Amino acid sequence: MTLGIIGAMDEEVRALRDALVDPAPAVVFGSPVIRGDIDGVEVLLMRSGVGKVNAALATVALAHAGATHIVFTGMAGGIGAGVHIGDAVIATDLVQHDVDVTAFGVQPGQLLSESMTWQSDPPLADQLARAFAVATANMDVSAHRGRIASGDQFIASHTRAGEIAEQFGAIAVEMEGAATAQVCTKLGVPFAVLRWISDTADDAAIEDFPLFCERIAELDLAIVRALVGAVRD
Ligand code: ADE
Repeated sequence: MTLGIIGAMDEEVRALRDALVDPAPAVVFGSPVIRGDIDGVEVLLMRSGVGKVNAALATVALAHAGATHIVFTGMAGGIGAGVHIGDAVIATDLVQHDVDVTAFGVQPGQLLSESMTWQSDPPLADQLARAFAVATANMDVSAHRGRIASGDQFIASHTRAGEIAEQFGAIAVEMEGAATAQVCTKLGVPFAVLRWISDTADDAAIEDFPLFCERIAELDLAIVRALVGAVRD
């Protein structure tokens, strides 16, 4: 296995970058990739930048560089019942909440001749769930499995969060995962998405999110170390 890891922001990949053994930086399709080793597993690490287009490009670049499996990690806003700050959401599937071609008779979130949702790889998502259990053994947090909605919007409105939850049956919002999901599905690369809940996408999100940024680097490293342990054994 060569594990591709993507995070959108520097805060989300910083600790992972520092943990890579024998790091070898390269640029693939204009995107900086670092090849290295974490606890005996080859890792390709990329900071994609924020948003769906950046995530799509990073995913193509990682697959081209040889990633056999791709995990997107980082932060999300929790919009499902019982999804609290500090919990995690592991995607069963992902949808693009900002896509609207309904004038042509397709579902909200669906592009013409495309699926509405993109399923993550069940075995890889199961491994992430086991990794979460190991990484958070001493913490009072939960991992929720469910749909993640992605869009090129930071959601900071209780009303809008509720609309996305209801319209798409999503339990978390972020800005990249569905793009990686769509690209990985088309390329035949197994993928999974784990997001730590930094805020609840409501009017307090703009204060909660930067506070959580201070914690995310170590949480992302903990989950990847536990995942590497699970896939290696
Ligand atoms: N990532 C973390 N919190 C988010 C939010 N509220 N909206 C979109 N992306 C996010």
